Order: sequence, then C-alpha cells, then structure tokens
Amino acid sequence: MPRLANIGCLATCANPVGQEDIGLIRDAALVWRDGVVRWAGRATALPAEYRQEPEWNAGGRLVIPGLVDAHTHLAFGGWRAGEFSDRIQGRDYLEIAAAGGGIRSTVRATRALDEDTLLDRAREFLSGMVSLGVTTVEAKSGYGLDLETELRLLRVYRRLDESGPVRIVATCLAAHVVPPEWAADRAGYVRLITEEVLPAVAEEGLAAFCDVFVEDSAFSADEARQICERGSDLGLRPKLHVDQLTGGGGAELAASLGAVSADHLEYVSESGIEALAQAGVVGVTLPLASLYLDQAPPPARALIDGGVAVAVASDFNPGTAPSYHLPFAMTLACARQRMTPAEVLKGTTRYAARALGRERRVGSLEPGAAADFAVIDAPDVEHWLYHLRPNACVAAVIGGEARHGVLPKA
Ligand code: NIG
Ligand code: FE
Repeated sequence: MPRLANIGCLATCANPVGQEDIGLIRDAALVWRDGVVRWAGRATALPAEYRQEPEWNAGGRLVIPGLVDAHTHLAFGGWRAGEFSDRIQGRDYLEIAAAGGGIRSTVRATRALDEDTLLDRAREFLSGMVSLGVTTVEAKSGYGLDLETELRLLRVYRRLDESGPVRIVATCLAAHVVPPEWAADRAGYVRLITEEVLPAVAEEGLAAFCDVFVEDSAFSADEARQICERGSDLGLRPKLHVDQLTGGGGAELAASLGAVSADHLEYVSESGIEALAQAGVVGVTLPLASLYLDQAPPPARALIDGGVAVAVASDFNPGTAPSYHLPFAMTLACARQRMTPAEVLKGTTRYAARALGRERRVGSLEPGAAADFAVIDAPDVEHWLYHLRPNACVAAVIGGEARHGVLPKA
C-alpha cells in the first residue's frame, strides 16, 4: 500500500460542485492500494495504519488528479500544415473545406492507413500526453466515414485502452461530415450511420458515446436528432460538436437530446446556456481550436455564471487543434476564456471526467477513485498555469503505477 508523502499542495477535486473548488490540501499525503486511492488528507492526520507503508516523495510539489482530455480526434492519417499557412494568409476554414481540403483531406489520408499504422501513430501521441500528466483520453473516430474505416479507428482505441497505460474512452463520430461519395445522397449517409455503423459499433462494444458535428457545413439538427436517438437506443450516449463556427441552437439541441456534453460553444446563445445548465450537460471548451481558427473564445464566464460545469480539452486533431498539449490549452483557457487556474483544473479533471461519464472513477483523488495523479513542479495551480513551461510534469501515475518520470522512494 504505497503512499505519496511530502506533497506541498494536493488538489483532490473531490467536490462534485463548485467550478473553483479544487479541494486544496497543503502538506498532504496520499495512500493507495491495488491502483485505488484509500486515503487523502493532511500529512499530520495520516492514520497510524498507513505510516509504515513504502513512501514515495513528491518533493514538496503540487499533486493533481491525472488530467482527463475529454475531447480528442486521436487517430488520423497525415497532417495539414499547408492549410495552417493558407489560413494565416487569409483563406477561411470553410472555404478550404469546400475545396476538398479540411476534414475530407484527413479522411483520404486515414483510409489509406492500416490498423497497425494508425495504432502506432496514436500510441506515440499518447506517450507525449502522459508525459504532460494526462491519464485519461477521450478519442473520436470520424476520419473514416465508411463502415470499415470507422470500425478500424475504434478498434485502434480499444487496443490502446487494453494495452494501456492511458485510459481511453471512445466516441463514434461517423457523423463528422458527409463524405464525398455520399454528397448527392445525404439521407443515404445518415441511414448508413443509423442502420449499419452504429449497430456494428454497439455490437462490438467499441464506443461509449456517439457524436455529431452540428453545423451548416456538416449535419443539421434534424439529422443529428435521428443519429443521436438511434445511438441512445443502442446504448451510445450523445456528445455533440455544436455552435462552433455559427450559432444555430446547438446547445439547446444537445440539452434536448440528453447529451452528456456539448463541445465547442463559441457561438452559444443565452438560451443555450440556460438549457445546458438545466439539463446538466457539461460544456466542453476547446481553446486551441478557437486560437487556431482565430475566433473569439467561447463565453466560459457566462457558462460558469449560468450554472454550467465547464470542461477544457485539447480537441487534438490535424486541422483546428494540431497539438495535444493540454497544459497549454489550460493556460489559454485562463488567458482567453477568463477562467481562473482553479476553475480550469476542475475542468480538466472532475468535470472532464463527468463529460465522459467517468466521474468518481477518474478526475478526483478521494477514496475509491483510481490512483491516477500527476506531480507538477510548481508550488500551486496558479503558478503552474501562469509560468507555462514546455513541461512541468515530473511524474504521472496511472492505477498506482508510475508511467512517466521517477519519484524518489524511501
Ligand atoms: O473539433 N469541428 C469539427 N471537428 C474538428 C475539426 C476537424 C478537422 O478540421 O479535421 C474540431 O474542431
Ligand atoms: Fe472536435
């Protein structure tokens, strides 16, 4: 039963409410057994029964729950650096997409790769993520857009979850855009999703969620409703990409469909905020995407003040967010979304876990939760996100096992 001692500042994130309440304990200790937290509290209050246990030393640093990246498009082929340059020079994201670039260009590159190649690429990204303190990752399909390739991407996620160390939560995003071969028959593509893709995904148990990109350039509210209702019938709860490029009542739609999260929200309306709060839908904000698209950030303050639990995620993908650096996204959420460092930490731990239906198992450090944590070389959360460094994470532990860095042991 190891224990982590000499924690200068422990953020347990144990409180299910309060965006800013990260459950700070100074001079703390943490005890776990069989990969599960048994005790967390002030070192001076450590129960006698745990005092003889092997000790790991946090060196007086900050310890946080392992970060949960609640929105990524982890597996894909190719990159789109050329589009990055094009956008800098004034070409619009949608204009590039309409000319056959954007998501469709990644679909071509992804279809060309076999399962092992996609797996090797995604594993490399995950090893970078874990070194930053990320221990759980939501991973979407959505660059296959045919039955075979969507299943291939989701099988990659299942293999990565089984091999560990990072915990993977998979989402089927077959409704990312209408692929070119279905351009003349949108309804046919929606039928392919509801009649073939989602049933096959559910049959193999390959995803926990089903997602739809709701946007003029992607799927309408009616199409999203058909897809999400079918997903729900099959046990795949909805998550939605909404109000990203235009406002179209996407948040209201997510609330009415009982979605677990509504993601992006740059253009969310006041009534959308109210609907999310009432339905208990987590708002997942993606500061890297709004930065790369040079958009005004989502109104995180209004969301929080309106009673929505706000998560922050990377949206890692080759188009709008080509970086999996979640701590960088966290600093951006502070600077651009006017969230405090504590609010952002809650949004990348407990509330991010809520957006994945995994709350209390991951995203907090309390008895019964997984012993997933990161040791950050900073005196507190404020200093960590303020003094952005390439990597301040000195150790990442998943299920009680060190997966990045080393901690001195007594
Ligand atoms: O979350 N908005 C839709 N999907 C992605 C972008 C995907 C891409 O450009 O490849 C997003 O931003
Ligand atoms: Fe996304």
